[in-house]
Amino acid sequence: MSLSNKDILHAVLNNDASEETKLQFHYIEKATGYVDELKKELGRTPTACVVTFGCQMNARDSEKLMGILAKIGYEIVESEDADFVIYNTCTVRDNADQRVFGRLGYLSGIKKKKPHMKIALCGCMMQEESSIEKIKKSYRHVDLIFGTHNIFKFAELLCTVFESDRMIIDIWKDTDKIVEDLPIIRKYPFKSGINIMFGCNNFCTYCIVPYVRGRERSRSPKDIIREIEYLASDGVKEIMLLGQNVNSYGKGLPEDEAMSFAELLSEVCKVDGIKRVRFMTSHPKDLSDDLIKVIAENEKVARHIHLPLQSGSDEILKKMNRHYTKESYLKLVDKIKAQIPDVSITTDIIVGFPGETDSDVDETIDVVKKAQFDNAFTFIYSKRTGTPAASMEQVPESVSKPNFDRLLKVVQETAKERASRFTGRVENVLVEEINEHDPSLLTGRMSNNTLVHFPGDSSLIGEFVSVKLLECHGFYYTGEKI
Ligand code: 5AD
Ligand code: SF4
Repeated sequence: MSLSNKDILHAVLNNDASEETKLQFHYIEKATGYVDELKKELGRTPTACVVTFGCQMNARDSEKLMGILAKIGYEIVESEDADFVIYNTCTVRDNADQRVFGRLGYLSGIKKKKPHMKIALCGCMMQEESSIEKIKKSYRHVDLIFGTHNIFKFAELLCTVFESDRMIIDIWKDTDKIVEDLPIIRKYPFKSGINIMFGCNNFCTYCIVPYVRGRERSRSPKDIIREIEYLASDGVKEIMLLGQNVNSYGKGLPEDEAMSFAELLSEVCKVDGIKRVRFMTSHPKDLSDDLIKVIAENEKVARHIHLPLQSGSDEILKKMNRHYTKESYLKLVDKIKAQIPDVSITTDIIVGFPGETDSDVDETIDVVKKAQFDNAFTFIYSKRTGTPAASMEQVPESVSKPNFDRLLKVVQETAKERASRFTGRVENVLVEEINEHDPSLLTGRMSNNTLVHFPGDSSLIGEFVSVKLLECHGFYYTGEKI
Protein backbone atom coordinates (compact mmCIF):
# COMPACT_ATOMS: atom_id res chain seq x y z
CA MET A 1 0.00 0.00 0.00
CA SER A 2 1.43 3.36 -0.88
CA LEU A 3 0.03 6.53 0.64
CA SER A 4 0.03 10.17 -0.20
CA ASN A 5 -0.21 13.01 2.29
CA LYS A 6 -3.85 13.37 1.33
CA ASP A 7 -4.53 10.05 3.05
CA ILE A 8 -3.32 11.26 6.42
CA LEU A 9 -6.30 12.53 8.30
CA HIS A 10 -6.29 15.13 11.03
CA ALA A 11 -2.62 15.59 10.38
CA VAL A 12 -2.89 19.33 10.77
CA LEU A 13 -3.14 20.38 14.36
CA ASN A 14 -6.49 21.98 15.24
CA ASN A 15 -6.37 25.22 17.21
CA ASP A 16 -8.64 23.73 19.84
CA ALA A 17 -6.62 20.52 20.24
CA SER A 18 -6.04 19.27 23.77
CA GLU A 19 -2.71 19.78 25.55
CA GLU A 20 -1.99 16.08 25.14
CA THR A 21 -2.64 16.20 21.38
CA LYS A 22 -0.31 19.22 21.11
CA LEU A 23 2.35 17.36 23.06
CA GLN A 24 2.06 14.35 20.76
CA PHE A 25 2.45 16.59 17.71
CA HIS A 26 5.69 17.81 19.25
CA TYR A 27 6.88 14.17 19.43
CA ILE A 28 5.71 13.54 15.87
CA GLU A 29 8.01 16.33 14.76
CA LYS A 30 10.87 14.96 16.82
CA ALA A 31 10.33 11.40 15.51
CA THR A 32 10.30 12.77 11.94
CA GLY A 33 13.87 13.94 12.55
CA TYR A 34 14.91 10.43 13.66
CA VAL A 35 13.28 8.82 10.62
CA ASP A 36 15.04 11.37 8.39
CA GLU A 37 18.38 10.29 9.86
CA LEU A 38 17.49 6.64 9.28
CA LYS A 39 16.56 7.47 5.69
CA LYS A 40 20.01 9.00 5.11
CA GLU A 41 21.67 6.00 6.71
CA LEU A 42 19.74 3.50 4.58
CA GLY A 43 19.80 5.58 1.39
CA ARG A 44 16.04 4.97 0.93
CA THR A 45 12.71 5.61 2.63
CA PRO A 46 12.36 3.25 5.60
CA THR A 47 9.33 0.96 5.58
CA ALA A 48 6.83 0.09 8.33
CA CYS A 49 4.32 -2.73 8.61
CA VAL A 50 1.34 -2.85 10.99
CA VAL A 51 -0.13 -6.32 11.56
CA THR A 52 -3.59 -6.43 13.15
CA PHE A 53 -5.02 -9.30 15.16
CA GLY A 54 -8.58 -9.39 16.48
CA CYS A 55 -11.60 -7.14 16.24
CA GLN A 56 -12.75 -3.97 14.47
CA MET A 57 -11.56 -1.86 17.41
CA ASN A 58 -8.05 -3.13 16.85
CA ALA A 59 -8.36 -2.51 13.12
CA ARG A 60 -9.25 1.12 13.90
CA ASP A 61 -6.34 1.41 16.36
CA SER A 62 -4.04 0.12 13.63
CA GLU A 63 -5.18 2.93 11.35
CA LYS A 64 -4.03 5.32 14.09
CA LEU A 65 -0.64 3.59 14.30
CA MET A 66 -0.25 3.77 10.52
CA GLY A 67 -1.23 7.45 10.58
CA ILE A 68 1.65 8.25 12.95
CA LEU A 69 4.15 6.05 11.11
CA ALA A 70 3.30 7.62 7.75
CA LYS A 71 3.35 11.12 9.22
CA ILE A 72 6.88 10.71 10.60
CA GLY A 73 8.16 9.50 7.24
CA TYR A 74 7.80 5.74 6.97
CA GLU A 75 6.43 4.13 3.83
CA ILE A 76 3.63 1.80 4.93
CA VAL A 77 4.02 -1.69 3.48
CA GLU A 78 2.29 -5.02 3.98
CA SER A 79 5.41 -7.20 4.21
CA GLU A 80 6.82 -8.04 7.63
CA ASP A 81 10.26 -7.74 6.07
CA ALA A 82 10.03 -4.01 6.91
CA ASP A 83 12.31 -1.68 8.89
CA PHE A 84 9.63 -1.26 11.56
CA VAL A 85 7.10 -3.96 12.39
CA ILE A 86 4.33 -3.61 14.95
CA TYR A 87 1.88 -6.30 16.03
CA ASN A 88 -1.41 -4.96 17.34
CA THR A 89 -2.44 -7.96 19.40
CA CYS A 90 -5.65 -9.59 20.61
CA THR A 91 -6.06 -11.84 23.63
CA VAL A 92 -9.75 -12.75 23.52
CA ARG A 93 -8.85 -16.41 22.89
CA ASP A 94 -5.60 -18.25 23.49
CA ASN A 95 -4.98 -19.05 19.81
CA ALA A 96 -4.60 -15.29 19.13
CA ASP A 97 -1.76 -15.20 21.72
CA GLN A 98 -0.08 -18.23 20.20
CA ARG A 99 -0.12 -16.72 16.70
CA VAL A 100 1.70 -13.62 17.96
CA PHE A 101 4.42 -15.67 19.68
CA GLY A 102 4.85 -17.78 16.54
CA ARG A 103 5.31 -14.72 14.37
CA LEU A 104 7.67 -13.06 16.84
CA GLY A 105 9.90 -16.09 16.55
CA TYR A 106 9.92 -15.68 12.79
CA LEU A 107 10.80 -11.96 13.08
CA SER A 108 13.83 -12.78 15.19
CA GLY A 109 15.41 -14.43 12.11
CA ILE A 110 14.75 -11.33 9.98
CA LYS A 111 16.12 -8.97 12.62
CA LYS A 112 19.40 -10.89 12.88
CA LYS A 113 20.07 -9.99 9.24
CA LYS A 114 18.83 -6.41 9.68
CA PRO A 115 20.06 -5.03 13.02
CA HIS A 116 18.49 -1.57 12.52
CA MET A 117 15.06 -3.21 12.38
CA LYS A 118 12.62 -2.22 15.17
CA ILE A 119 9.90 -4.49 16.50
CA ALA A 120 6.95 -3.24 18.58
CA LEU A 121 3.98 -4.88 20.27
CA CYS A 122 0.78 -3.28 21.46
CA GLY A 123 -2.89 -4.09 22.00
CA CYS A 124 -4.87 -6.25 24.39
CA MET A 125 -2.36 -9.05 24.93
CA MET A 126 0.14 -6.51 26.30
CA GLN A 127 -2.23 -5.64 29.17
CA GLU A 128 -1.56 -9.08 30.64
CA GLU A 129 1.42 -9.40 32.92
CA SER A 130 2.07 -13.00 31.92
CA SER A 131 2.57 -11.97 28.27
CA ILE A 132 5.04 -9.24 29.23
CA GLU A 133 7.03 -11.67 31.40
CA LYS A 134 7.21 -14.17 28.55
CA ILE A 135 8.39 -11.52 26.07
CA LYS A 136 11.01 -10.16 28.49
CA LYS A 137 12.34 -13.66 28.98
CA SER A 138 12.15 -15.24 25.54
CA TYR A 139 11.76 -12.47 22.96
CA ARG A 140 14.56 -10.04 23.76
CA HIS A 141 14.59 -8.74 20.18
CA VAL A 142 11.40 -6.72 20.83
CA ASP A 143 12.13 -2.96 21.09
CA LEU A 144 8.83 -1.50 22.29
CA ILE A 145 5.79 -2.71 24.20
CA PHE A 146 2.77 -0.61 25.08
CA GLY A 147 -0.87 -1.32 25.87
CA THR A 148 -4.38 -0.30 24.95
CA HIS A 149 -4.66 2.78 27.18
CA ASN A 150 -1.66 4.76 25.94
CA ILE A 151 -1.77 4.14 22.19
CA PHE A 152 -2.08 7.91 21.74
CA LYS A 153 1.51 8.16 23.05
CA PHE A 154 2.88 6.14 20.12
CA ALA A 155 4.95 9.03 18.67
CA GLU A 156 6.45 9.78 22.09
CA LEU A 157 7.31 6.11 22.63
CA LEU A 158 8.89 5.92 19.17
CA CYS A 159 11.20 8.80 20.13
CA THR A 160 12.26 6.87 23.23
CA VAL A 161 12.98 3.80 21.07
CA PHE A 162 15.18 5.86 18.75
CA GLU A 163 17.03 7.28 21.76
CA SER A 164 17.66 3.99 23.56
CA ASP A 165 18.87 0.45 22.97
CA ARG A 166 16.79 -1.04 25.78
CA MET A 167 13.43 -2.75 25.45
CA ILE A 168 10.90 0.05 26.20
CA ILE A 169 7.83 -1.08 28.12
CA ASP A 170 4.98 1.30 28.96
CA ILE A 171 1.72 -0.30 30.14
CA TRP A 172 -1.06 1.59 31.89
CA LYS A 173 -3.54 -0.22 34.10
CA ASP A 174 -6.47 1.98 33.05
CA THR A 175 -7.22 5.48 31.84
CA ASP A 176 -10.01 8.00 31.67
CA LYS A 177 -8.27 9.84 28.85
CA ILE A 178 -9.66 10.05 25.33
CA VAL A 179 -7.09 11.74 23.10
CA GLU A 180 -8.46 12.94 19.75
CA ASP A 181 -7.23 14.34 16.47
CA LEU A 182 -4.00 12.48 15.90
CA PRO A 183 -3.05 11.33 12.38
CA ILE A 184 -5.03 8.39 10.98
CA ILE A 185 -4.78 6.45 7.74
CA ARG A 186 -7.87 4.69 6.51
CA LYS A 187 -7.64 1.31 4.86
CA TYR A 188 -10.54 2.27 2.58
CA PRO A 189 -11.00 5.89 1.43
CA PHE A 190 -14.80 5.48 1.27
CA LYS A 191 -15.57 3.76 4.57
CA SER A 192 -14.33 4.10 8.10
CA GLY A 193 -14.77 2.80 11.61
CA ILE A 194 -15.20 5.37 14.34
CA ASN A 195 -14.87 4.78 18.07
CA ILE A 196 -17.84 5.98 20.04
CA MET A 197 -16.81 4.37 23.30
CA PHE A 198 -13.95 2.46 24.83
CA GLY A 199 -13.77 -0.37 27.37
CA CYS A 200 -16.49 -2.58 28.80
CA ASN A 201 -18.23 -2.83 32.19
CA ASN A 202 -20.16 -6.04 31.62
CA PHE A 203 -17.71 -8.59 32.98
CA CYS A 204 -19.10 -11.64 31.18
CA THR A 205 -17.33 -14.31 33.18
CA TYR A 206 -15.41 -15.84 30.23
CA CYS A 207 -14.21 -12.53 28.82
CA ILE A 208 -10.85 -10.82 29.24
CA VAL A 209 -11.91 -7.58 27.51
CA PRO A 210 -12.96 -5.60 30.64
CA TYR A 211 -9.53 -6.35 32.14
CA VAL A 212 -7.50 -5.34 29.10
CA ARG A 213 -9.64 -2.52 27.68
CA GLY A 214 -10.63 -1.02 31.01
CA ARG A 215 -13.80 0.71 32.17
CA GLU A 216 -16.44 1.92 29.79
CA ARG A 217 -16.00 5.52 28.57
CA SER A 218 -18.18 7.23 25.99
CA ARG A 219 -16.79 9.86 23.65
CA SER A 220 -18.59 13.18 23.58
CA PRO A 221 -21.34 13.26 20.90
CA LYS A 222 -19.94 16.59 19.71
CA ASP A 223 -16.54 15.05 18.99
CA ILE A 224 -18.09 12.02 17.30
CA ILE A 225 -20.24 14.14 14.98
CA ARG A 226 -17.31 16.46 14.23
CA GLU A 227 -15.15 13.49 13.25
CA ILE A 228 -17.91 12.03 11.07
CA GLU A 229 -18.44 15.39 9.35
CA TYR A 230 -14.72 15.50 8.67
CA LEU A 231 -14.78 11.93 7.30
CA ALA A 232 -17.76 12.76 5.07
CA SER A 233 -15.93 15.80 3.69
CA ASP A 234 -13.01 13.50 2.92
CA GLY A 235 -15.09 11.10 0.81
CA VAL A 236 -16.33 8.61 3.40
CA LYS A 237 -19.81 7.27 2.60
CA GLU A 238 -20.15 4.43 5.07
CA ILE A 239 -19.22 4.49 8.72
CA MET A 240 -19.23 1.86 11.43
CA LEU A 241 -19.77 3.07 15.00
CA LEU A 242 -17.51 0.99 17.21
CA GLY A 243 -17.76 -0.05 20.84
CA GLN A 244 -17.74 -3.27 22.89
CA ASN A 245 -21.36 -2.62 23.83
CA VAL A 246 -22.71 0.31 21.83
CA ASN A 247 -26.16 -0.02 23.40
CA SER A 248 -24.85 1.33 26.68
CA TYR A 249 -23.39 4.42 24.95
CA GLY A 250 -23.84 7.63 26.87
CA LYS A 251 -23.51 6.43 30.44
CA GLY A 252 -21.30 8.84 32.35
CA LEU A 253 -21.50 11.69 29.84
CA PRO A 254 -21.87 15.15 31.44
CA GLU A 255 -25.52 16.20 31.81
CA ASP A 256 -25.39 18.84 29.08
CA GLU A 257 -24.18 16.21 26.60
CA ALA A 258 -26.44 13.34 27.70
CA MET A 259 -27.41 11.12 24.78
CA SER A 260 -28.49 7.51 24.29
CA PHE A 261 -27.16 5.29 21.51
CA ALA A 262 -30.50 5.52 19.66
CA GLU A 263 -30.27 9.33 19.74
CA LEU A 264 -26.64 9.29 18.64
CA LEU A 265 -27.43 6.98 15.73
CA SER A 266 -30.20 9.26 14.61
CA GLU A 267 -27.87 12.30 14.80
CA VAL A 268 -25.14 10.49 12.87
CA CYS A 269 -27.60 9.74 10.05
CA LYS A 270 -28.16 13.47 9.61
CA VAL A 271 -24.55 14.09 8.56
CA ASP A 272 -24.51 15.07 4.88
CA GLY A 273 -22.59 12.73 2.63
CA ILE A 274 -22.88 9.71 4.95
CA LYS A 275 -25.01 7.18 3.10
CA ARG A 276 -24.80 4.12 5.33
CA VAL A 277 -24.24 3.67 9.04
CA ARG A 278 -23.28 0.41 10.74
CA PHE A 279 -22.60 -0.31 14.38
CA MET A 280 -20.93 -3.05 16.38
CA THR A 281 -21.45 -4.68 18.90
CA SER A 282 -24.87 -4.84 20.57
CA HIS A 283 -25.42 -6.55 23.89
CA PRO A 284 -28.90 -8.18 23.90
CA LYS A 285 -29.58 -6.98 27.44
CA ASP A 286 -29.34 -3.31 26.44
CA LEU A 287 -30.93 -3.20 22.98
CA SER A 288 -33.77 -0.70 23.39
CA ASP A 289 -37.11 -0.28 21.61
CA ASP A 290 -35.98 3.23 20.74
CA LEU A 291 -33.01 1.81 18.90
CA ILE A 292 -35.15 -0.62 16.91
CA LYS A 293 -37.39 2.31 15.99
CA VAL A 294 -34.47 4.48 14.84
CA ILE A 295 -33.15 1.65 12.66
CA ALA A 296 -36.59 0.85 11.23
CA GLU A 297 -37.31 4.48 10.38
CA ASN A 298 -33.94 5.35 8.99
CA GLU A 299 -32.93 4.03 5.57
CA LYS A 300 -29.31 5.01 6.18
CA VAL A 301 -28.89 2.53 9.02
CA ALA A 302 -27.62 -0.80 7.69
CA ARG A 303 -30.06 -3.71 7.87
CA HIS A 304 -27.71 -5.70 10.07
CA ILE A 305 -27.56 -6.31 13.79
CA HIS A 306 -24.80 -8.36 15.35
CA LEU A 307 -26.35 -9.72 18.52
CA PRO A 308 -24.05 -12.12 20.37
CA LEU A 309 -26.03 -15.00 21.88
CA GLN A 310 -23.08 -16.87 23.47
CA SER A 311 -25.37 -19.67 24.69
CA GLY A 312 -29.00 -20.73 24.49
CA SER A 313 -29.03 -22.39 27.91
CA ASP A 314 -30.44 -20.29 30.76
CA GLU A 315 -28.13 -21.93 33.25
CA ILE A 316 -25.03 -21.22 31.19
CA LEU A 317 -26.19 -17.67 30.40
CA LYS A 318 -26.47 -17.08 34.12
CA LYS A 319 -23.00 -18.45 34.79
CA MET A 320 -21.74 -16.27 31.94
CA ASN A 321 -23.30 -13.19 33.63
CA ARG A 322 -25.16 -12.26 30.45
CA HIS A 323 -28.37 -10.92 32.07
CA TYR A 324 -30.87 -12.42 29.60
CA THR A 325 -32.58 -15.76 29.05
CA LYS A 326 -33.20 -17.96 26.03
CA GLU A 327 -36.79 -16.76 25.98
CA SER A 328 -36.04 -13.05 26.26
CA TYR A 329 -33.36 -13.35 23.56
CA LEU A 330 -35.79 -15.05 21.16
CA LYS A 331 -38.45 -12.44 21.95
CA LEU A 332 -35.99 -9.70 21.11
CA VAL A 333 -35.12 -11.38 17.80
CA ASP A 334 -38.82 -11.65 16.94
CA LYS A 335 -39.40 -8.01 17.80
CA ILE A 336 -36.46 -6.88 15.66
CA LYS A 337 -37.60 -8.98 12.70
CA ALA A 338 -41.20 -7.77 12.98
CA GLN A 339 -40.16 -4.12 12.96
CA ILE A 340 -37.25 -4.31 10.52
CA PRO A 341 -38.34 -6.98 8.02
CA ASP A 342 -35.18 -7.04 5.85
CA VAL A 343 -32.76 -7.17 8.75
CA SER A 344 -29.96 -9.72 9.00
CA ILE A 345 -29.12 -10.90 12.47
CA THR A 346 -25.72 -12.42 13.11
CA THR A 347 -24.34 -13.76 16.34
CA ASP A 348 -21.41 -15.14 18.34
CA ILE A 349 -21.66 -18.46 20.19
CA ILE A 350 -19.26 -20.10 22.62
CA VAL A 351 -19.20 -23.88 23.08
CA GLY A 352 -17.50 -25.57 26.00
CA PHE A 353 -18.06 -22.94 28.71
CA PRO A 354 -17.38 -24.47 32.17
CA GLY A 355 -20.15 -26.86 33.19
CA GLU A 356 -21.78 -26.97 29.75
CA THR A 357 -23.48 -30.28 29.00
CA ASP A 358 -24.83 -31.83 25.79
CA SER A 359 -28.32 -30.70 26.75
CA ASP A 360 -27.14 -27.08 27.19
CA VAL A 361 -25.82 -27.24 23.62
CA ASP A 362 -29.19 -28.67 22.52
CA GLU A 363 -30.72 -25.45 23.87
CA THR A 364 -28.23 -23.36 21.90
CA ILE A 365 -29.01 -25.35 18.74
CA ASP A 366 -32.69 -24.77 19.38
CA VAL A 367 -32.11 -20.99 19.46
CA VAL A 368 -30.11 -21.18 16.23
CA LYS A 369 -33.00 -22.95 14.54
CA LYS A 370 -35.62 -20.56 15.90
CA ALA A 371 -33.71 -17.30 15.49
CA GLN A 372 -32.61 -18.12 11.92
CA PHE A 373 -29.34 -16.22 12.05
CA ASP A 374 -27.85 -15.01 8.79
CA ASN A 375 -24.47 -16.01 10.14
CA ALA A 376 -23.04 -17.18 13.45
CA PHE A 377 -19.43 -17.08 14.56
CA THR A 378 -18.82 -20.11 16.73
CA PHE A 379 -15.93 -20.40 19.16
CA ILE A 380 -14.64 -23.09 21.45
CA TYR A 381 -14.37 -21.64 24.95
CA SER A 382 -10.84 -20.52 25.75
CA LYS A 383 -9.79 -20.22 29.38
CA ARG A 384 -8.51 -16.69 30.12
CA THR A 385 -6.44 -16.31 33.26
CA GLY A 386 -7.95 -13.81 35.70
CA THR A 387 -11.56 -14.20 34.54
CA PRO A 388 -14.11 -15.80 36.92
CA ALA A 389 -14.76 -18.69 34.48
CA ALA A 390 -11.10 -19.69 34.61
CA SER A 391 -11.58 -20.99 38.15
CA MET A 392 -14.79 -22.91 37.35
CA GLU A 393 -14.67 -26.58 36.48
CA GLN A 394 -13.55 -26.85 32.83
CA VAL A 395 -15.19 -29.02 30.15
CA PRO A 396 -12.91 -31.60 28.51
CA GLU A 397 -12.32 -31.35 24.76
CA SER A 398 -13.88 -34.78 24.35
CA VAL A 399 -17.21 -33.13 25.26
CA SER A 400 -16.82 -29.65 23.74
CA LYS A 401 -15.42 -30.69 20.34
CA PRO A 402 -18.32 -32.98 19.27
CA ASN A 403 -20.77 -30.36 20.56
CA PHE A 404 -18.99 -27.67 18.57
CA ASP A 405 -19.19 -29.78 15.39
CA ARG A 406 -22.86 -30.49 16.01
CA LEU A 407 -23.63 -26.79 16.44
CA LEU A 408 -21.55 -25.73 13.43
CA LYS A 409 -23.49 -28.09 11.17
CA VAL A 410 -26.83 -26.55 12.18
CA VAL A 411 -25.42 -23.01 11.94
CA GLN A 412 -24.21 -23.62 8.40
CA GLU A 413 -27.45 -25.23 7.26
CA THR A 414 -29.71 -22.51 8.68
CA ALA A 415 -27.47 -19.64 7.53
CA LYS A 416 -27.35 -21.00 3.99
CA GLU A 417 -31.10 -21.30 3.80
CA ARG A 418 -31.64 -17.92 5.39
CA ALA A 419 -29.12 -16.04 3.24
CA SER A 420 -30.73 -17.20 -0.01
CA ARG A 421 -33.94 -15.29 0.70
CA PHE A 422 -32.77 -12.27 -1.30
CA THR A 423 -32.22 -14.16 -4.57
CA GLY A 424 -33.69 -12.25 -7.53
CA ARG A 425 -33.82 -8.92 -5.68
CA VAL A 426 -32.02 -5.73 -6.63
CA GLU A 427 -29.82 -4.45 -3.80
CA ASN A 428 -27.76 -1.34 -3.20
CA VAL A 429 -24.15 -2.54 -2.96
CA LEU A 430 -21.15 -0.49 -1.82
CA VAL A 431 -18.26 -1.69 -4.00
CA GLU A 432 -15.17 -2.36 -1.87
CA GLU A 433 -12.53 -3.94 -4.09
CA ILE A 434 -11.58 -6.07 -7.07
CA ASN A 435 -12.43 -9.71 -6.33
CA GLU A 436 -9.44 -11.54 -4.84
CA HIS A 437 -9.84 -14.63 -7.01
CA ASP A 438 -11.24 -13.26 -10.26
CA PRO A 439 -10.10 -9.78 -11.37
CA SER A 440 -13.06 -9.44 -13.76
CA LEU A 441 -15.34 -9.28 -10.72
CA LEU A 442 -15.93 -6.62 -8.09
CA THR A 443 -16.75 -7.34 -4.47
CA GLY A 444 -19.15 -5.23 -2.46
CA ARG A 445 -21.50 -5.35 0.51
CA MET A 446 -25.24 -5.12 0.77
CA SER A 447 -26.84 -3.09 3.53
CA ASN A 448 -27.27 -6.32 5.53
CA ASN A 449 -23.50 -6.94 5.26
CA THR A 450 -23.76 -9.87 2.80
CA LEU A 451 -20.97 -9.94 0.20
CA VAL A 452 -21.83 -9.72 -3.49
CA HIS A 453 -19.52 -10.44 -6.44
CA PHE A 454 -20.40 -9.10 -9.87
CA PRO A 455 -18.67 -8.16 -13.15
CA GLY A 456 -17.36 -4.59 -13.28
CA ASP A 457 -14.23 -2.44 -13.37
CA SER A 458 -12.24 -0.64 -10.70
CA SER A 459 -13.83 2.76 -11.45
CA LEU A 460 -16.80 1.59 -9.38
CA ILE A 461 -14.79 1.02 -6.19
CA GLY A 462 -16.23 3.23 -3.44
CA GLU A 463 -19.54 3.70 -5.30
CA PHE A 464 -23.02 2.45 -4.46
CA VAL A 465 -24.28 0.29 -7.32
CA SER A 466 -27.65 -1.43 -7.92
CA VAL A 467 -26.97 -5.13 -8.31
CA LYS A 468 -29.41 -7.89 -9.19
CA LEU A 469 -28.72 -10.91 -6.97
CA LEU A 470 -28.64 -13.90 -9.28
CA GLU A 471 -27.37 -16.75 -7.16
CA CYS A 472 -26.69 -17.37 -3.49
CA HIS A 473 -23.57 -19.39 -2.65
CA GLY A 474 -24.01 -19.80 1.09
CA PHE A 475 -22.49 -16.67 2.57
CA TYR A 476 -22.26 -14.58 -0.60
CA TYR A 477 -24.12 -13.79 -3.80
CA THR A 478 -23.12 -13.45 -7.41
CA GLY A 479 -25.04 -10.89 -9.38
CA GLU A 480 -25.07 -8.32 -12.18
CA LYS A 481 -25.08 -4.54 -12.23
CA ILE A 482 -28.32 -3.08 -13.53
N1 5AD B 1 -13.47 -18.06 24.75
C1 5AD B 1 -14.09 -18.19 23.56
N2 5AD B 1 -14.71 -17.19 22.94
C2 5AD B 1 -14.71 -15.99 23.54
N3 5AD B 1 -15.25 -14.81 23.19
C3 5AD B 1 -14.96 -13.90 24.13
N4 5AD B 1 -14.25 -14.47 25.12
C4 5AD B 1 -14.08 -15.77 24.78
C5 5AD B 1 -13.45 -16.87 25.40
N5 5AD B 1 -12.84 -16.76 26.56
C6 5AD B 1 -16.03 -14.63 21.98
C7 5AD B 1 -17.46 -14.15 22.30
C8 5AD B 1 -17.43 -12.73 21.83
C9 5AD B 1 -16.46 -12.78 20.69
C10 5AD B 1 -15.89 -11.48 20.28
O1 5AD B 1 -15.46 -13.64 21.16
O2 5AD B 1 -18.36 -14.92 21.56
O3 5AD B 1 -18.71 -12.28 21.45
FE1 SF4 C 1 -16.59 -9.26 26.78
FE2 SF4 C 1 -19.13 -9.34 27.59
FE3 SF4 C 1 -17.85 -6.95 27.43
FE4 SF4 C 1 -18.51 -8.30 25.19
S1 SF4 C 1 -19.95 -7.45 26.70
S2 SF4 C 1 -16.52 -7.31 25.63
S3 SF4 C 1 -18.25 -10.43 25.80
S4 SF4 C 1 -17.36 -8.65 28.81
